[in-house]
Amino acid sequence: MTQTEYLGADDASLSRAVILLRTGFCVAFPTETVYGLGADASNPEAVARIYAAKDRPSFNPLISHLPNIDAALAQGSFNDDALALAEAFWPGPLTLVVPAHAGTTVCDLARAGLNSVGLRVPDHPVTKAILDMADVPIAAPSANSSGRISATSANHVLSDLSGRIAAVVDGGETPVGVESTIIDCTGENPRILRPGGIPREDIEAVLGRPIAGETPISEKPLAPGMLASHYAPRCPVRLEATHIEKGEAALVFGPNVAPPGIKQATAIINLSVTGDLVVAAANLFSALRQLDEKGVTAIAVTPVPKTGLGEAINDRLSRAAAPR
Ligand code: TXA
Ligand code: MG
Repeated sequence: MTQTEYLGADDASLSRAVILLRTGFCVAFPTETVYGLGADASNPEAVARIYAAKDRPSFNPLISHLPNIDAALAQGSFNDDALALAEAFWPGPLTLVVPAHAGTTVCDLARAGLNSVGLRVPDHPVTKAILDMADVPIAAPSANSSGRISATSANHVLSDLSGRIAAVVDGGETPVGVESTIIDCTGENPRILRPGGIPREDIEAVLGRPIAGETPISEKPLAPGMLASHYAPRCPVRLEATHIEKGEAALVFGPNVAPPGIKQATAIINLSVTGDLVVAAANLFSALRQLDEKGVTAIAVTPVPKTGLGEAINDRLSRAAAPR
């Protein structure tokens, strides 16, 4: 339990919010759509705290918020359609999913391991001030616990998340009240992933053609069809390992883990030597990536507790272990 700081929207309060964000804490703040639960998108531990605060059972990709178009362009590749939509609707209630640049500062965990990145430039003076000062992309899902309705006031945020987040910035009621429209611009033709604050007709008017949609994935775990594009190591992954077999790399969790056979492991990564699930979540994607890049031929994973963030970690691990 943390005491959640209640902050106003004056300069001193916004500076305080930014200090908390820059030091890895979660802060809820208003946007023009709904209240967002923000954290530094470049800091996996900070992003892990979002999932923990929301009690999300899985890691779905989060939207990263930027203060202006140029900052967004630096994170991903925009094709002509994406550029046209960004220029027409940003700042505003539109999220664009685009291929991530190799140098994106949005961490793997915020992208749920995908090679794409969800970007949005919000149109709200409080959000803008925070993003300008923060100078890092801010990942922010709606500021409610998983499965509850989105928060449109600071009081809604507190009724769900009080004691679970560092602070809430009260900037009054959010004007739009529904989430941003999400458009996938990773393929040849844009697709609506989630209807929201910008109507389809307005989007089609800018594109000059009809748009396919919706593939409703908003609050659900990623649909099975999306798993192929989800980051997973190339080699087989064996879960709940109580020993390490010859030729396997070991992905372990917690202090003093020494399953039989660990000495012959081709590589060993500990997700958290102190047994901290927030740290383990923060390390999960980079650990899988590192083992993959090392070219290991099999990965054995020792048990990770199923409580708290452990649920999402285990969900992700079972996706990595699923036959492909
Ligand atoms: O209005 C909004 O969009 C609010 C405010 C706070 O900005 N934010 C919001 O974020 O609703 P969130 O995290 O709840 O929305 C995340 C959704 C995911 O469920 C997924 O559908 C989509 O955004 N998304 C984000 N990045 C994606 C990616 N790389 N690929 C596919 N979908 C992505
Ligand atoms: Mg939401």
